[in-house]
Amino acid sequence: MKLSIFITALASLTTFTLAQTINRTQTNGWGSTPSQRHYINHTQALAVVQAGINRAIEIGVPQNIAVLDPSAWLIAFVHMDNAFLGSIDISQKKAKTSVLYNGIPSIALQNRSEPGGDIYAIQETNGGTVVFGGGQPIFDPSGYFIGAVGCSGGTVAQDIDVAVHAAQAVGTTITAS
Ligand SMILES: *[C@@H]1O[C@H](CO)[C@@H](O)[C@H](O)[C@H]1NC(C)=O
Ligand SMILES: *[C@@H]1O[C@H](CO)[C@@H](O)[C@H](O)[C@H]1NC(C)=O
Ligand SMILES: *[C@@H]1O[C@H](CO)[C@@H](O)[C@H](O)[C@H]1NC(C)=O
Repeated sequence: MKLSIFITALASLTTFTLAQTINRTQTNGWGSTPSQRHYINHTQALAVVQAGINRAIEIGVPQNIAVLDPSAWLIAFVHMDNAFLGSIDISQKKAKTSVLYNGIPSIALQNRSEPGGDIYAIQETNGGTVVFGGGQPIFDPSGYFIGAVGCSGGTVAQDIDVAVHAAQAVGTTITAS
């Protein structure tokens, strides 16, 4: 892919969230360096995991729940009893996908990454990203992007539901339409 096309694709990814109230330049978006980022801490990450577990129990679907910081390091993870083993990797890659694109929900990439879409095969990059739902950004109460949570174990709708509940344990997330 030519660099210019790639930049155009990346720029259009950000339009997904322009309508949101979050200022992405200020909150770990374009141009941020690691020292400018705001990081989820392990207390918050555990709260996110616990809220995800609670929601998974409520809907009766065991989940894998992964929390990554804005540099894509794994901070907390749980494999709930009887959750799919294959979803351990998927949960982490969903969160990674959200982090790698400055806090988009992973589902935002879905239709455009299908054959014929302008970012087709983006899922093959970065050692594998996940372009369906269940990866959600986490914004703290001040609006800073502090990490992402990835949930996998049920249907995509269930995974998104659990991830949204999980993220809201310490702040807010973006609800993808
Ligand atoms: C977002 O934050 C950046 C950096 O602080 C600032 O320069 C810019 O004006 C802000 N944009 C809006 C729309 O508030
Ligand atoms: C983690 O962050 C929360 C929210 O800012 C804060 O209340 C808490 O003291 C922090 N915990 C640790 C161990 O730093
Ligand atoms: C993908 O979905 C969004 C939101 O529903 C829509 O605006 C956009 O046109 C779709 N893109 C493609 C390539 O289908």
